[in-house]
Amino acid sequence: MAEPKRLKHRSWEVTEGPARAPARAMMRGMGLSDEDLARPLVGVSNTWNEATPCQLNLDRVARRVKAAVREAGGTPREFITITVSDAIAMGHEGMRASLVSREVIADSIELMMHAHRYDALVACAACDKSIPGSIMAMARLNVPSIFTYGGPMLPGRFEGRDVTIQDVFEAVGAFAAGTMSAAQLDELERSACPGAGTCAGLFTANTMASCAEALGLTLPGDAAIPQVDPEREAHSEKVGLAVMKTLELGIKPRDVLAHEAFENAITLDAAMGGSTNAVLHLLAIAHEAGVSLTLDEFDAIARKTPHLVSMKPGGRYVMADLHRVGGVPGVLRRLLEAGRLHPDALTVTGETMAQRLRNAPAEISSDIVRPIADPISPAGTVAVLRGNLAPEGAVVKTAMVKRLVHRGPARVFEGEEAAFQAAQERAIRPGDVVVIRYEGPKGGPGMREMLAITAALVGQGLGEEVALVTDGRFSGATRGLMVGHVSPEAWDGGLLAGVRDGDPIEIDVPKRTLRVDLTDDEARRRLRGWVRPSPRYASGALAKYAKLVGSASQGALCG
Ligand code: FES
Repeated sequence: MAEPKRLKHRSWEVTEGPARAPARAMMRGMGLSDEDLARPLVGVSNTWNEATPCQLNLDRVARRVKAAVREAGGTPREFITITVSDAIAMGHEGMRASLVSREVIADSIELMMHAHRYDALVACAACDKSIPGSIMAMARLNVPSIFTYGGPMLPGRFEGRDVTIQDVFEAVGAFAAGTMSAAQLDELERSACPGAGTCAGLFTANTMASCAEALGLTLPGDAAIPQVDPEREAHSEKVGLAVMKTLELGIKPRDVLAHEAFENAITLDAAMGGSTNAVLHLLAIAHEAGVSLTLDEFDAIARKTPHLVSMKPGGRYVMADLHRVGGVPGVLRRLLEAGRLHPDALTVTGETMAQRLRNAPAEISSDIVRPIADPISPAGTVAVLRGNLAPEGAVVKTAMVKRLVHRGPARVFEGEEAAFQAAQERAIRPGDVVVIRYEGPKGGPGMREMLAITAALVGQGLGEEVALVTDGRFSGATRGLMVGHVSPEAWDGGLLAGVRDGDPIEIDVPKRTLRVDLTDDEARRRLRGWVRPSPRYASGALAKYAKLVGSASQGALCG
């Protein structure tokens, strides 16, 4: 009878004993030798595809990881899962697939690892949903694992300045407003994305890669090394060597994903001014890790964390700039020395956060990363609002937003396309509160990001004049006073469903409130007469998702 072996703690089930001759036969069909089968099997999940530049060099990353796993005594087995490019899916029906893909990625990695009994995992990913999806799988599986990132894109150059995909989205609004010519828009389109890598600013992918580093799930410096930098391949080799050490030490993701790790990640996110999607994804990862984390903890940490890093979309720099001045370890060290991090939080290498940050750069540029004593703003960059429009909470990013209180008449749209059309027709007026509903996790379904409309408004010069409220969410590249994740969503009968054109809406970030000026009686009366719209999808993945998904206030989890 076959026995478990220490490092082959799962794979012995498929490689040992006479009963597993068929499984071994299949693996021999891939050229595996007796020695290969005697070694620990290490899964290398990879979200590589040709759908988006974000993933383009992940094949090289995985190749280097596998070579190093072999060198360190393991047998790597790579498998591919999906990725949806938010920048390509943005602004149309395709965006409904984006958040759904997070669950599919997590499920697919979980199922591959479960079926083939791999002993350890290196999760390679490089786009908005593929990062949290991979980490959710790591937390579920709880086998020794390391996450590694594909790396950010370098910025493009246009009219003498650095540009990113955010500039192209905003240029669409500027073109509609007549402040940019067709020739300029064309030139910008051809310049903004100069090669492989994730969207270059601190949008969702780079936010989540930074959070993965702060959670302790990566090697130091993982988030900011550009995808086309030769250092990325050298780093990938270190990841392959390190995972064998993690396996040897028996360190599992849930050992790392303690509550303190989430507090470290939320603190880093606040200090960097990251995407509001971090709220959604960290809640989901915490749930998978069995850690209790609430929306209000994001607000509490943001209130006491200074905003230190000047990154696009609100600031000046891109991720490659941050890499030049020390990357995420430099920011973490600054926070650690100011007593803002849990120093004893464990990381995948077995070091504590404080131990691994000893080697992080101490002196970094004060233009990109400001000193704690002279921050961009004294409090962090995400706030959680509540009120009759969002009794379960709504999320707003405050990084670089000058106007934190706004009162204006509602302009109600049933979905993003109608709002975008109105913006293109210059029908949104200064002072308006654009309400976009039936875009929540269930109602969309898929909780679309609203970058096309928010960028169009900014491009038309309305960024400081209007506000937006939605049960959908925002791209990390969105800027302006934009309130998302409104819960409960309109589809679930939240008061957002009862708002009408002209209703006064007040957003007060300092007071953390989001209200529509209706009496309780009137609000009840409107909701009594409310009829839920027909679902957009009656079958297929989106219909299945709409049936399973929960509230955005709890991370939009399925099941
Ligand atoms: Fe992949 Fe932006 S679309 S990181």
